[in-house]
Amino acid sequence: MQTWDPYTRIWHWLLMLGIIFQYISGEILDDQIQNHAIVGYGLLGMMTFRVLWGVIGPETIRFATFIPTPTHLLTYITGKQSTPYATHNPLGALAVLGFIVIIFIQSLSGLFMTDDIFFTGPLHSWLTGDITDIITRMHDWAFNLLLLFVVIHIAAVLYHRFTTEPYIIKAMLTGHKPIAHNYQTLTTLQLHLRAWLCILISTIKIVVLINYVPEWLGIEDELWY
Ligand code: HEM
Ligand code: HEM
Repeated sequence: MQTWDPYTRIWHWLLMLGIIFQYISGEILDDQIQNHAIVGYGLLGMMTFRVLWGVIGPETIRFATFIPTPTHLLTYITGKQSTPYATHNPLGALAVLGFIVIIFIQSLSGLFMTDDIFFTGPLHSWLTGDITDIITRMHDWAFNLLLLFVVIHIAAVLYHRFTTEPYIIKAMLTGHKPIAHNYQTLTTLQLHLRAWLCILISTIKIVVLINYVPEWLGIEDELWY
């Protein structure tokens, strides 16, 4: 049955590509910082999308469906309930929240960054130097935390792939898990309308944040996108 709708699947693989690009453009290449910022804005928009999608998207993808209660989490961790889940398992659910929070921190802190040569983030001169320094360090350590999450995530996916859920990776490509469930599905029209509403709100948020917020905060024009 369908577990992951097309928007969630595209979101997931775009996220993976985006993070790889951010690593290469932030750590390895020196001349890609403007593209780094643009992809960073995109990732910020994608996080906003995922939060909205987790509220009005299909039932399998909603936070209310998969965020576990402490008891449920404990039952899962102690191995008392390990049935494959049609949506995220309780630990996977925590990882999803972790990813969203870290990537929010990462992309928002980016707005305060500068490489001192080609690029100055739109909010760079808003706060005092000390606070901006702390935020800049946050951009660095949040990425290390993100890498740790990615490693654990891939290890967990592979573990399930080779034990109880051989279809798990394929499901993120095709959308289908061979597990019957009673979650409500949306009609095709509902799915597209809701997804595009989330995309629209996320896009407006980025445009306003980059183009208007600095002016509202009285930040002098600098070299920002
Ligand atoms: C930078 C790399 C990656 C990041 C940041 C990432 C992030 C995520 C996130 C946030 C979710 C939750 C999806 C949602 O609820 O919207 C997820 C699910 C998933 N990811 Fe990744 N992912 C990455 C790489 C990979 C790779 C390389 C694979 C395959 C080997 C993979 C396989 C999966 C699968 C199978 C799920 C669904 C798990 C389940 O059924 O509960 N991911 N990933
Ligand atoms: C999820 C989104 C993002 C990720 C994963 C990410 C990741 C990274 C990484 C790994 C570095 C290298 C850190 C280091 O060398 O210490 C970096 C540096 C940087 N990032 Fe980001 N970043 C993101 C978003 C942004 C955004 C939105 C902006 C600006 C609007 C930005 C601006 C910068 C700048 C200016 C640097 C410093 C480059 C230098 O000093 O050469 N980042 N980022």
